[in-house]
Amino acid sequence: MSDLDQLQTQILAEIAAASDEAAIEAVRVAALGKKGSISALLATLGKMSPDERKTEGAKINLAKDTVTEALTVRRDVLKTAALDARLASEIVDVTLPVRDTPADQGRIHPISQVMDELTAIFADMGFAVAEGPDIETDDYNFTKLNFPVGHPAREMHDTFFFNPKEDSSRLLLRTHTSPVQVRTMLSQKPPIRVICPGRTYRIDSDATHTPQFHQVEGLVIDKGSHLGHLKWILAEFCKAFFEVDNVNMRFRPSFFPFTEPSLEVDIQCRRDKGEIRFGEGEDWLEILGCGMVHPNVLRACDIDPEIYQGFAWGMGIDRIAMLKYGIPDLRQMFEGDVRWLNHYGFKPLDVPTLAGGLSP
Ligand code: DAH
Repeated sequence: MSDLDQLQTQILAEIAAASDEAAIEAVRVAALGKKGSISALLATLGKMSPDERKTEGAKINLAKDTVTEALTVRRDVLKTAALDARLASEIVDVTLPVRDTPADQGRIHPISQVMDELTAIFADMGFAVAEGPDIETDDYNFTKLNFPVGHPAREMHDTFFFNPKEDSSRLLLRTHTSPVQVRTMLSQKPPIRVICPGRTYRIDSDATHTPQFHQVEGLVIDKGSHLGHLKWILAEFCKAFFEVDNVNMRFRPSFFPFTEPSLEVDIQCRRDKGEIRFGEGEDWLEILGCGMVHPNVLRACDIDPEIYQGFAWGMGIDRIAMLKYGIPDLRQMFEGDVRWLNHYGFKPLDVPTLAGGLSP
């Protein structure tokens, strides 16, 4: 057998043994590619005498055609086999039920849900939503809210401070949503009716406290606003939010630097086998702080207390979420466990409205 016949037999054997399209391509490159074995033989033709070229050229070209043909046939066989295998493995049973879309699978966190619920309730009463930054100045978080520098009430806030700047002022993570009151009064003219839901931060961590939590602030500034208005608003809110016809509330005197008088509000409830019912029972549960905005705060925000009065309140969102939805441990709210979220979360397409239902 001549060298050329031997080479052709060997290549045809390799073609027959190639088990997939990548393998067949490798054989093609080795034989017919730029540096392939048959291409190398074709390159020798140039150095031959015309007679030799005639006979050898015909033989080499015949071998090339044979190999090319064999490659094409084998490639088609392998291609069909690959497609058949894929079709067999990727069978789609169109009679199976459709899987939930991501929008159906996802869950809204109870805190987001409760923020949406309370926004719907207060929006219905004519309140707009105001927002402020999580990183605040000492001035907005404390001084303009009538916490004098060095006043012990500042210490009660367990504040996260940033490193002092060159002018020795320090930024901080806001300890309450009350600085948004200041921002709103400085940027809007009365009458003002806003709620300010958002994140707040304090150095505190146990079963009922987390370093980051949520509050919603309420602020009304107008001529002739008084505690009676505040009481009505809070009672209406509680009835709508807890979805009960009657909520008994108790207003206790308290102290906040930014309100005078200051009050804390408890709602009547009954605790029974780990469940809480509102509007009845013999227990009281604190849900918020409130009061008439202190004249010093109004003055610090360029509002004349002789003309305008106002009231404000601050409520813990995590707390009312736990109460309404029977969530026992505050810390789990922040753990990001999907199993917990699947249990306590809400369907994203069920948006709370007063007409359609707050907690479908
Ligand atoms: N900022 C207070 C706190 O975090 C809560 C509060 C109390 C807000 C009374 C108010 C208010 O607007 O009037 O403890």
